[in-house]
Amino acid sequence: MKKIIVTGGAGFIGGNFVHYMLKKYSDYKIICLDCLTYAGNLETLEIVLDNPNFRFVKADITDREAVFKLFEEEHPDMVVNFAAESHVDRSIENPGIFLKTNILGTQTLMDACRRFGIERYHQVSTDEVYGDLPLDRPDLFFTEETPIHTSSPYSASKASADLLVGAYYRTYGLPVTISRCSNNYGPYHFPEKLIPLMIINALHNKPLPAYGKGENVRDWLYVEDHCKAIDLIIHKGTVGEVYNIGGHNEKTNIEIVKIILKELGKSEELITYVTDRKGHDLRYAIDPTKIHNELGWLPETKFEDGIKKTIRWYLNNKGWWEKIISGEYKNYYEKMYVDK
Ligand code: NAD
Ligand code: DAU
Repeated sequence: MKKIIVTGGAGFIGGNFVHYMLKKYSDYKIICLDCLTYAGNLETLEIVLDNPNFRFVKADITDREAVFKLFEEEHPDMVVNFAAESHVDRSIENPGIFLKTNILGTQTLMDACRRFGIERYHQVSTDEVYGDLPLDRPDLFFTEETPIHTSSPYSASKASADLLVGAYYRTYGLPVTISRCSNNYGPYHFPEKLIPLMIINALHNKPLPAYGKGENVRDWLYVEDHCKAIDLIIHKGTVGEVYNIGGHNEKTNIEIVKIILKELGKSEELITYVTDRKGHDLRYAIDPTKIHNELGWLPETKFEDGIKKTIRWYLNNKGWWEKIISGEYKNYYEKMYVDK
């Protein structure tokens, strides 16, 4: 039986990864380490809380004592670090917590790995560490060789963590891998992010706030395809390597918004153009050649199907998001969007 600590497993991608791994490996123990910030939600894990192969531990990845105690108890074979402050807009308002969690949290986890020994430490990073690409050069893509060139406090904190992971590999020989994925979408996505925010606003006939001209491009990947890629990397990837993950599925934000409105049978008159994000990255686009050639990974869910599945999930799981939008998140929404 392998033991994997999955940090941030009560969040969007980590939660999907916990479900994916428990389903796929009946002989693995998955230990979720999550301190349940505003973005962490135990309801995402409700259906596995009683699974004997699952354990939930409420702790902060920057809390050395708690992290070391967990390693002493469990002696994990692998750590997959999803835990992070993940929202660019929040990082622009309040960078401090991003530096603490995303950089120092990564350090704490890797120190525990060094102390207790580990087969693999995997860092879940992002394509945002490469900065952005111009809108008028569709021939350009991010490869693993693209220089780090960050724009927001969020991406700078993720890039700093990546550099630290590389340093722990080179200096201490820690067996690490890093993955850099493009924008994910799917079930359990927190409503502050573009796709769930637009679905939920459209359902309430509220304005859909497109930043700037809505022309920025993101490269969307269904979350389960990201989980499959990480599963391959931790089992078959080469130690010390970086793997880009993305499915050549670029769309402008306004295209995404229009697809959602059409699917829900709502009017495009709901679209409202609002003040642009500061330092807004223009275009992300991943070249996934390396992970395809070395590990045989290819995205399986087409966007047309994935977005339909996602919308259906939000329609069938209103209880999950209604609690979020009526709580603390309501104050965040009012602060960020009223008068924008
Ligand atoms: P999320 O915000 O939905 O979830 C983050 C989780 O981490 C939450 O459960 C939260 O409670 C937990 N967490 C935060 N700080 C913590 C701390 N100090 N200690 C313990 N737990 C803590 O994030 P997400 O969108 O699921 O992203 C997961 C990871 O994937 C992040 O590292 C992010 O940078 C990366 N990533 C995200 C995307 C995307 O499109 N969402 C794409 C590429 C990479
Ligand atoms: O590329 C990977 C990254 O994708 C991850 O590292 C981040 O954790 C994740 O949050 C995501 O970052 P983005 O900034 O691309 O995602 P977000 O959903 O916040 O925004 C997507 C695009 O939509 C972006 O161009 C900004 C725009 N946007 C967003 C919101 C919330 C709007 O136009 N209106 C909005 O209300």
